[in-house]
Amino acid sequence: MTKFEARQDSITTVDRADGRKVFVKSYGCQMNVYDAQRMTDQLGDGGYAETARVEDADLVVLNTCHIRERATEKIFSELGKLRLLKAERAAGGRDTKIVVAGCVAQAEGAEILRRERAVDVVVGPQSYHRLPDMLARAGQGERVVDTEFELEDKFSRLPKPRATGPAAFLTIQEGCDKFCTFCVVPYTRGPELSRPVAAIVAEARALAEAGVREITLLGQNVNGYHGEDEQGRTAGLAALCRRLAVIPGLDRLRYTTSHPNDLDDDLVAAHRDLPALMPFLHLPVQSGSDRILKAMNRRHTAARYLELVARLRAARPDLALSSDFIVGFPGETDADFEATLDLIRRVGFASTFSFKYSPRPGTPGAEMDDQVPDAVMRERLARLQALVEEQRQAFNAATVGRTLDVLLERPGRHPGQLTGKTPYLQQVQVEGPPDLVGTIVPVTIDATAPNSLFGSLAHRDWARQPARSVA
Ligand code: 5AD
Ligand code: SF4
Repeated sequence: MTKFEARQDSITTVDRADGRKVFVKSYGCQMNVYDAQRMTDQLGDGGYAETARVEDADLVVLNTCHIRERATEKIFSELGKLRLLKAERAAGGRDTKIVVAGCVAQAEGAEILRRERAVDVVVGPQSYHRLPDMLARAGQGERVVDTEFELEDKFSRLPKPRATGPAAFLTIQEGCDKFCTFCVVPYTRGPELSRPVAAIVAEARALAEAGVREITLLGQNVNGYHGEDEQGRTAGLAALCRRLAVIPGLDRLRYTTSHPNDLDDDLVAAHRDLPALMPFLHLPVQSGSDRILKAMNRRHTAARYLELVARLRAARPDLALSSDFIVGFPGETDADFEATLDLIRRVGFASTFSFKYSPRPGTPGAEMDDQVPDAVMRERLARLQALVEEQRQAFNAATVGRTLDVLLERPGRHPGQLTGKTPYLQQVQVEGPPDLVGTIVPVTIDATAPNSLFGSLAHRDWARQPARSVA
């Protein structure tokens, strides 16, 4: 599974040097954010300095998302604007190359070149280690498409990742074999592929040495991870977490996104045994109706999900959960929707993402009868979102008065303020000196606002203490 545009749009924002400049914009999930960073690093090694101003860019890379129709339409409207910019720059004697990367590139391939003449290169998520070569060909006037799936580890062909703060992403697995009937990911990201344990451990170690305190392991079906270890055995996600948890300085581990069916006993036990594994889990259920879950090809029931949640909470009593929901999947009745609300009430989520069903060409869902009218979807979505928002606010309010370990990630919006994250992935604003950035400190939560908590350092003289603590 992936996460999407509203949450994660990000723009690379540093100007480094004269000479050629690249502007990279990433849409969609955290995997895309990671990929965009790796592309930027690679292009940096090739002499491109990053720019936050698209007008100045000799190279524009859109790292695209195809998960819902709106995400795709956004890309084509962006490309329309880039066509005009390219023409303007050309009139001033400046060349601009435009690259479409990511899942729209994979899904649409050469069709993008036909639909948008300004595009020079189309590169799928499995091929971007070949981007420098493609750009060289584009420099000769060729229009290039590369959407091959390869079995080799593309990550081993990319430069080593650079830490950009105390929290980092690390992709450990790509692709999905689950074929939920609404989802394009198995088609755009291909079959499940796990990186070897040694490569992941080495990358995590390098990040920790560069000051990273928290790593979020990424994969479309991350708990389906089955990488080869140094002895040639297959390691699951729990085994991998145990290896990572002992890396000095790496105090926090998270992973996303999981499928309930791949959450095995070993991983439940890891949540019990590893303090580094943060007590917050994104575990999408999509619907609370067994009929709809079956039509979605989720291969689990609502009861099974609830049982899994109970086992996780028995292992780690303070575990907070988040989920994805789709409303208006074809055939969804009022009763099916009520079953979803019922599941939400039973679990109590700390946060959620919810969407109207968006038929994606090529997926079985798009061909199903009984598509739900938009007005009905809208009404259901509003009701669902009101309920989960109430739960989210209640969860946040319950942290007031508690002292939580907070990883301070960067200076806050106001002078003297720092921004950090609780173990439950809540954003917190704290008054404190800037040299605490990159450390984990106990913070007493004083108040909540709709999108942030406010806290104060639990030890006023914390700056003079050895600056690390773990839950
Ligand atoms: N329509 C609506 N939501 C979708 N998602 C995936 N495909 C679709 C679709 N066709 C949602 C699911 C998934 C999340 C990443 O996006 O909830 O978990
Ligand atoms: Fe898509 Fe289902 Fe795979 Fe998640 S598990 S990426 S929703 S097919």
